[in-house]
Amino acid sequence: MKRIFSSTVKDLVGQEVLMKGWAETIRVHAKVAFIDLRDRTGITQIVCVGEENIKIAQDLTAESVISVTGTVSERPQSLVNINIISGTVELQAQKIELITKAKTLPLPLNDREVSEETRLKYRYLDLRSKKMAENLRKRHKINQYLRNYFTDREFIEVETPYISKSTPEGARDYLVPSRIAPGKFYALPQSPQQYKQLLMVAGIEKYFQIVRCFRDEDARADRQPEFTQLDVELSFTNQTEVLELLEELFTGLVKEFFPEKTLTFPKFQVLTYAEAMEQYGNDRPDLRKDKNNPDELAFLFVVDFPMFEYKEGDKRWGAVHHPFTAPKKEFVDNFEKMPEKALADQYDLVLNGSEIVGGSIRIHDSEVLERVFKFLGHSKEEIQLKFGHLLEAFQYGVPPHGGFACGLDRLFTVLFGENTIRDVIAFAKSGDGRDLMMNAPSEVDDSQLKELGLKRL
Ligand code: AMO
Repeated sequence: MKRIFSSTVKDLVGQEVLMKGWAETIRVHAKVAFIDLRDRTGITQIVCVGEENIKIAQDLTAESVISVTGTVSERPQSLVNINIISGTVELQAQKIELITKAKTLPLPLNDREVSEETRLKYRYLDLRSKKMAENLRKRHKINQYLRNYFTDREFIEVETPYISKSTPEGARDYLVPSRIAPGKFYALPQSPQQYKQLLMVAGIEKYFQIVRCFRDEDARADRQPEFTQLDVELSFTNQTEVLELLEELFTGLVKEFFPEKTLTFPKFQVLTYAEAMEQYGNDRPDLRKDKNNPDELAFLFVVDFPMFEYKEGDKRWGAVHHPFTAPKKEFVDNFEKMPEKALADQYDLVLNGSEIVGGSIRIHDSEVLERVFKFLGHSKEEIQLKFGHLLEAFQYGVPPHGGFACGLDRLFTVLFGENTIRDVIAFAKSGDGRDLMMNAPSEVDDSQLKELGLKRL
């Protein structure tokens, strides 16, 4: 018999069917027992009568995996359960089989009071909970929507390397020692920034990628050491076009998946960085009219960021976004003379006070790019060593280009109404950057270190 699911069982009244799944709850009475069978689509109530089946139900532990054959029957009107997908029917069991037995779970499912540490340690069980399973499904559907959205507009998804060379995005790199070149390291990408720009040199023109990025930063409620970006780059573009694309993308996405939500600004609000700082004291203000209303979404573009910020600790200027960001036209010739005034073609998109997108128009003139690197304090040799590949590439015909990256985990946190980024990520790291389920980071063998030419401290 072919297996059927909770989502379709209501259409099969009178038929004999086979169902498989987890015994979420078991209630045994004298003459009848009920099992809530959970499969990936929802829950179905199994009704067990007869000595043999009641005995099986009695011995069954919650969360054991079972298989049931039986006949689908309509529930009396008074017993319809509108909270479950199969609520108008139940399955009258003929034969119940135990496939695998479950020990008592170390955490109750669907109980949000359980400590996050326990949830992360037993993540494979936490993911059985309704909320987490739904979040994974919603995430998948939105990813698919994004892929279709960009494919329909002639973008192509190109994968870029994970073991590579550092790209400065302002965080610390995760380093990967090379076995073949002892003493040398790859860096995990903080973003595919340089690769996507090189794809523009390659003539791809319209690139996107749903991609993992790695940043060794201190954890916060809206940060993970590895997180996912929707990364986009276009050739022959400008800031107006990119902002229009972002507005269309997010308006469409909200309409499709969150019709119950309202936009504070049907036309996204735009503030310059200077205006945001002056009016709200920060560059990602939450402009919702009613901050207690989870169904209100306030999208805000922040534009005209300063190019540079002075790093007091290092006593030098640093790039506000990344060094590839183009100065506004009026500052191209003189940013070195007025670094505190120079503005960049950089934009952020803020949603309910969370920075969900960062992007910019890039410098495509290798001389200007070299001047920026120099101004940021890199010597000529350093520039060649770190960015020589990009500067050389720009000498073989580079189109003007720009783009953005959307932090998908942050976006989903806001859209799903979660309090932490960890609730939208299947296998999230704890606040202090550990994988509590796999117990990583962990010790490695001396032989592994030796092979990599590394010594213990
Ligand atoms: P940026 O560094 O602004 O830009 O990153 C883009 C977006 O990624 C998200 N983000 C994070 N999300 C979770 N955890 C983190 N540690 C984390 N760090 C960043 C944010 C942010 O807005 N290459 C450029 C993009 C470009 O210029 O095209 C970049 O990565 O939502």
